Amino acid sequence: MIIAITNQKGGVGKTTTAINISAAMALMGKRVLLVDTDPQAHSTISLLRDTQDLNKSLYDILSNRNEKIESIIHPSTVPGLSIAVSKISMAKLEPTLIGEIDGHFRLKEALQPIKNKYDFIFIDTPPTLGLITLNSLVAATHLLIPIQSSYLCLEGTDDLLETIEKVKKVANQNLQIIGVVITLHDQRTNMSKDVVGRIGKVFGDKVFKASVSKSVKLEESPAYKESIFSYAPNSIGAQQYRKIAEELIRRAKN
Ligand SMILES: Nc1ncnc2c1ncn2[C@@H]1O[C@H](COP(=O)(O)OP(=O)(O)OP(=O)(O)O)[C@@H](O)[C@H]1O
Ligand SMILES: [Mg+2]
Repeated sequence: MIIAITNQKGGVGKTTTAINISAAMALMGKRVLLVDTDPQAHSTISLLRDTQDLNKSLYDILSNRNEKIESIIHPSTVPGLSIAVSKISMAKLEPTLIGEIDGHFRLKEALQPIKNKYDFIFIDTPPTLGLITLNSLVAATHLLIPIQSSYLCLEGTDDLLETIEKVKKVANQNLQIIGVVITLHDQRTNMSKDVVGRIGKVFGDKVFKASVSKSVKLEESPAYKESIFSYAPNSIGAQQYRKIAEELIRRAKN
């Protein structure tokens, strides 16, 4: 199962969700790979001890079909979790692949030989609907959409849903939204209830029962190269991401 964590809106918790769901799954004994496709490389930086001497990254694999993805997969700081690393060079992917007829299929092709080695492959995507995200939507079997609990939370979801429909029509008929996760939630405000109501109207039972609250611990853990489960195992954030991972496993079985 290949799950792209996507929303072209910036800062909604894609990377935090990718890191902590992957970590939760790995700690449950699942074989998990996290693929970082974002030129910002936040997942890579947050989960690898040394990123300075990485010579190759996803860009090299996607721009040259003779390169094997195994060469950029490293063990992360989370036991059992591997990561296919990104670097700022991913920003060159779009200009490099322009005019290539199979430009949208490179990630799918790269994952093909290794996908059966993992129970779950998660893809962290950048905040755009450009070629990198399209590669992710084409490679994925499922999408997980984090939505920030805020006044403007649904802005842009029309474009995202439209893009998903186009990808389904042209390149990935069976692509499914496995769920929507409400992030950066602040239960104390009245507005947050309104926000949850509005997200529910659009996405119905796709919305996960568990949501993720705003929490300083979740914000801090990447600086220590840790997931929330080692940095603050008893925190609310750890409990919530564990629940979301469990809910995801239940949904994956159906
Ligand atoms: N539940 C949370 N509580 C507090 N801070 C959070 C939470 N989730 C994410 N953050 C912080 O908010 C910022 C944005 O989160 P994150 O990087 O996960 O979003 P993103 O969607 O991946 O962003 P981008 O679009 O730039 O890739 C980060 O500084 C992160 O540490
Ligand atoms: Mg991110």
